[in-house]
Amino acid sequence: MSDLRDDVRELFHALTGRTPDGLWSAPGRVNLIGEHTDYNDGFVLPFAIDRRTIVGAGARDDSVLRVASTFGDEAVEIDLRELGAAQAGGALRGWAAYPLGVAWALGEFGADLEAVPGVDLVIDSNVPVGAGLSSSAAIESAVAIALDELWRLGMSRETLAKVGQRAENDAVGAPTGIMDQSASLLGRRDSAVSLDCRSLDAEVVPLGFADAGLAVVVIDTRVTHEHSTGGYRERRESCEAGAAALGVPSLRHVRVDELDRARQVLDDVTFRRVRHVVTENQRVLDTVRTLREAGPLAIGDLLDASHRSMRDDFEISVPELDLAVETAHGAGAIGARMTGGGFGGSAIALAPLDAVSHIRVAIDGAFAEHGFTAPEVFTVTPSDGALREP
Ligand code: GLA
Repeated sequence: MSDLRDDVRELFHALTGRTPDGLWSAPGRVNLIGEHTDYNDGFVLPFAIDRRTIVGAGARDDSVLRVASTFGDEAVEIDLRELGAAQAGGALRGWAAYPLGVAWALGEFGADLEAVPGVDLVIDSNVPVGAGLSSSAAIESAVAIALDELWRLGMSRETLAKVGQRAENDAVGAPTGIMDQSASLLGRRDSAVSLDCRSLDAEVVPLGFADAGLAVVVIDTRVTHEHSTGGYRERRESCEAGAAALGVPSLRHVRVDELDRARQVLDDVTFRRVRHVVTENQRVLDTVRTLREAGPLAIGDLLDASHRSMRDDFEISVPELDLAVETAHGAGAIGARMTGGGFGGSAIALAPLDAVSHIRVAIDGAFAEHGFTAPEVFTVTPSDGALREP
């Protein structure tokens, strides 16, 4: 972290000749359980991880918003007064669409972009990109809290999560839900965020992994995925079609004991998409209850059932994710599942600390044997959400 902070300060100085007014940071996330439920008004249980994006920000004396990053090729700048037209014309592109999209979305949520000062933003991150750990939500959330403070907007964390989602949906063009930004903004150390995506009520649920001698192993398959096109959008459309055919506003309104009726009404594929979402919502509620009543050692079966449902019913897994899950199990994990939107990205395994090195070795071996690209295997800890760096 201190390295990232130094890098940001240095680049900020090189670009502007000044020191930033402050540094703000926001984490990536792992979703413990509750996949493709957020845009169905359902339940999710993600946690913020110890990988963060840092933003150095400083007000300017004009109305230019300039963003630079250690990973973007060059700085991008735009006059805040022209942001609306640029967004409407589809001119926000590439990595800069995330920070610029957030500034635009703050305007949509009430910031007066005609009146606020320009800002220099410099971004660095150690959230792996393309791993399904929400590197994009980390950028959005860090930029959102930085601009909120510099522009004295006083928006709540819940509103800033909606701002990030709006940037992702409209500037980046990915039809994603509210989970990732909520995890990044509301996360707490050693805890998950239990979020009702209909009411947006959020509760912090202690996980107690370390006390129970457990670690979360991430297996990044390096299979790339893209939520603005392809399968993610298709799955969302199937869910909406399923809800429409069942005559409900969203799949949140369907209970597990109503699935038999749904089977009569829906074609096989839509039925299986619906069954995933309906049973996954129940698994999130069961996981929260189990964590409270019996602790984390008891949630393994729920994680496994979630993976099977995504593999067989929702069909968003890939062979690399399935191999990661099976192999982690064979090497001592108590539960494992793919996490995030699917079609690539990462799996997680909840494992006793002394099984972590076996899992790493077993995964490396299994991937090599199958001729798959070597994965990245590392542990993450549930961490605090977005904050101003001291
Ligand atoms: C991505 C999206 C989230 C959510 C998950 C699937 O991470 O950004 O909103 O839909 O996929 O649970």
